[in-house]
Amino acid sequence: MNAEGAVQGSYWLQTAPAREPAPPPSGDITVDVAVVGGGIAGLSTAWELARHGREVAVLEADRIAAGVTGHTTAKLTALHTLVYDHLRRTRGREGARLYADSQSAAILRAAGIVADLGIECEWEEAAAFTFAERPEGVAQLRAEAEAAREAGLPAEFVTETELPFPVAGAVRVPGQAQFHPRKYLLALADDLCRLGGSVHEGTRVTGLTEGTPCVLSTDRGVSVRAGEVVVATHYPVFDRALLFTRLSPRRELVVAGTIDAGQAPRGMYITPERSTRSVRSAPYDEGRRLLIVTGEHFTPGAADVEARFDRLASWADSHFAGLTFTHRWATQDNDSTDSVPLVGPLHPGSRHTYVATGFGGWGLSSGIMAGRLISDLVQGHTAEWAGLYDPRRLASVVREGASFLRHQAHVARHFVGDRLPHVTAPSPEDLVPGDGAVVRLDGRQCAVHRDDGGRLQAVSAVCTHLGCVVAFNRAEQTWECPCHGSRFAPDGRILQGPAVRPLDRRDI
Ligand code: FES
Repeated sequence: MNAEGAVQGSYWLQTAPAREPAPPPSGDITVDVAVVGGGIAGLSTAWELARHGREVAVLEADRIAAGVTGHTTAKLTALHTLVYDHLRRTRGREGARLYADSQSAAILRAAGIVADLGIECEWEEAAAFTFAERPEGVAQLRAEAEAAREAGLPAEFVTETELPFPVAGAVRVPGQAQFHPRKYLLALADDLCRLGGSVHEGTRVTGLTEGTPCVLSTDRGVSVRAGEVVVATHYPVFDRALLFTRLSPRRELVVAGTIDAGQAPRGMYITPERSTRSVRSAPYDEGRRLLIVTGEHFTPGAADVEARFDRLASWADSHFAGLTFTHRWATQDNDSTDSVPLVGPLHPGSRHTYVATGFGGWGLSSGIMAGRLISDLVQGHTAEWAGLYDPRRLASVVREGASFLRHQAHVARHFVGDRLPHVTAPSPEDLVPGDGAVVRLDGRQCAVHRDDGGRLQAVSAVCTHLGCVVAFNRAEQTWECPCHGSRFAPDGRILQGPAVRPLDRRDI
């Protein structure tokens, strides 16, 4: 069983109300705060600041709530797989408590916003579970339940769940939530505009000059002057503190299908086993719910994405009877080397610039948390948990040494190794329709793609971010950079940063 016949694309994007794109600025503008990036972190920050009377502009390269946030599984929980046992060892019990407090506060914040604004976003309170099917995973789960409880969450170790297959054990935390992320964020953006803020879609920010004020340049030829700038572009497009050395991009696949409502789990589940399996369900039609299954994480540019989709679909099919696949899509996360998001000043000397990144697959609660934290910093307050997330933290850089070195070795391998001429490099004639490969043409590495009509097109294979060589993802028909996760269409257009320039066209 596979999900090949399913619609390609995020269910959330296809089921939110259609709306006209918000236009780019018609000329240069001046605002109190410019937020770069219109996902959950950017919109939450902008909304918090607008509520406090700041004049805010959100600048989004594509459409708001349509990037990573529009492709998430939309779980809003403070239980992040096995993070608490890790945190109490690396950041101490106090660090774990601050993490639990801040993430729980984010869920309460979202619940309050949904109620106050009357947002119809399929909000459902639900318990969150981290589970293991294999007995070897039980000790880890017991430790996690204890660490999460110590951190202040109402966590317990259980052996029974509502899942239609046995588990060896699970950590259960009640009182979490799930919702439709795009419906939530479109309503938040509307309220932001009611509060005097503005949203500009199709406006890619390409440059930042820090000062008083800061000045942002855009691909629309207009500039934005702002007292404060927040970089909330998932992977930061401006990186003045070498954050890219502490972030690893990870792609993850999603398959979704309808299931009898009586068979659908109402809780939110995740297991670290089998390259991660995450499960939740959402309202669908009368008598049916949509089961959403995520997993099979890999580094962007991996060659076996179709096989991974098949593995994920086959796991879903064998674990949930009566599943009819309707959608499949992919999402992308950034893991920080110490498993804690990086939220706060953009760099050590930063006075008016901020960043939010490294959410590691838990971007909904972390994005809302980041909105409050940065909004506080801009207003001169420091939240209790600001130190935990401060990107300038140094103590943890020492502790994160092993994963830092692993990430650097991975980047170096792609930066250097992918440039060497490969004896078996294919020639364009070898490409079948729908395939792509990096080919050496006139001594230059070119990313060559053959479309379904048989036409070849070539672009530079050198990523415009920091110069690694891209690789082709056949399942999604994209060029992907394994170093920091930039993604490009076959014609070189940017689909996802941190790159802010397309791949150069090449003649073929
Ligand atoms: Fe950094 Fe490509 S995304 S080099």
